[in-house]
Amino acid sequence: MIDTMGLGGLGRFGAYRRLLGLTRRLEEPEQETARVLCVASGKGGTGKSILASNLALLRARQGERVLLVDFDAGLANAHLLLGLAPEYDLSHVMQGQVSASEALVEGPHGLKLLSGGVGRHVLANPTRRELDRLFKALRPLEGSFDLIVVDHGAGLGYATVTHLAATSTLLLVTNHEVTALSDSYALYKRAHLVNPHITVGLVVNRVPDEPAATSAWERFRGASQRFLGHSPELVGWVPVDPAVVRSVERRVPVAVGEPESPAARAILSIARWGSIDHARSARPFFERARSALR
Ligand SMILES: Nc1ncnc2c1ncn2[C@@H]1O[C@H](COP(=O)(O)OP(=O)(O)OP(=O)(O)O)[C@@H](O)[C@H]1O
Ligand SMILES: [Mg+2]
Repeated sequence: MIDTMGLGGLGRFGAYRRLLGLTRRLEEPEQETARVLCVASGKGGTGKSILASNLALLRARQGERVLLVDFDAGLANAHLLLGLAPEYDLSHVMQGQVSASEALVEGPHGLKLLSGGVGRHVLANPTRRELDRLFKALRPLEGSFDLIVVDHGAGLGYATVTHLAATSTLLLVTNHEVTALSDSYALYKRAHLVNPHITVGLVVNRVPDEPAATSAWERFRGASQRFLGHSPELVGWVPVDPAVVRSVERRVPVAVGEPESPAARAILSIARWGSIDHARSARPFFERARSALR
């Protein structure tokens, strides 16, 4: 009504204000969405969940708003490693019983966890439509966090491959044994196939000493350079450490319970991997994951 009253001075002022608003909008950064780090491996039991949960809480301790999503759906254990007892998990979100934010629980240093659920058949082999519904429900979380760490189940399941296609950054966790290296190589190859621009960092976990870590890295790099023409970055290695086993038994993450242990120190250095600070794509992660389903 005021705009149509023809008050000359106000009209010009209105135009000026509109111009000012436009300039301000152009200067503002685009609506921020969370950076996303996927943590995966070829073989099971390489230490993904240990790495993902400790890394997530170390980043939370630095003051970032961090969400850990346990996408080992149906066989989740991140809540055990963090000493949490979530009431809801991904299955409830997928079935629309709760919203994604209602399913979160809070862990150490304000870290939030979205659990994958234990023994949830509905999550064991989700259909494309179910995953689409889940990714759609998870999308709003990207506006509320600085960093989302996704802990995957082992191997190349459907959900993992769609995440590999959607993520800008992957932490690949292997052990030094040839079986683990071979399976990690297969996952690395697949990740590049579905996502040629992906940044991949390799962690060699549970190694007896530095020479074993170096030799594992050289084998991995040698094979990937030779057969694919590129290789990941070595982010670090974590020694085999009884402190990790104790942390699992006590349900207190090693970075909290025994921060001075060799494993916790190594994980702290991995948590500082520079690519985590740039782990963002032009489009939000869960939107890209939905597109990858098609
Ligand atoms: N650096 C380490 N030193 C000693 N033990 C370790 C280390 N890392 C992992 N472990 C042991 O390996 C077990 C498996 O680790 P974790 O659950 O993180 O593996 P995962 O890759 O997530 O397994 P899954 O494929 O089943 O999801 C842990 O419970 C712990 O006992
Ligand atoms: Mg795991």
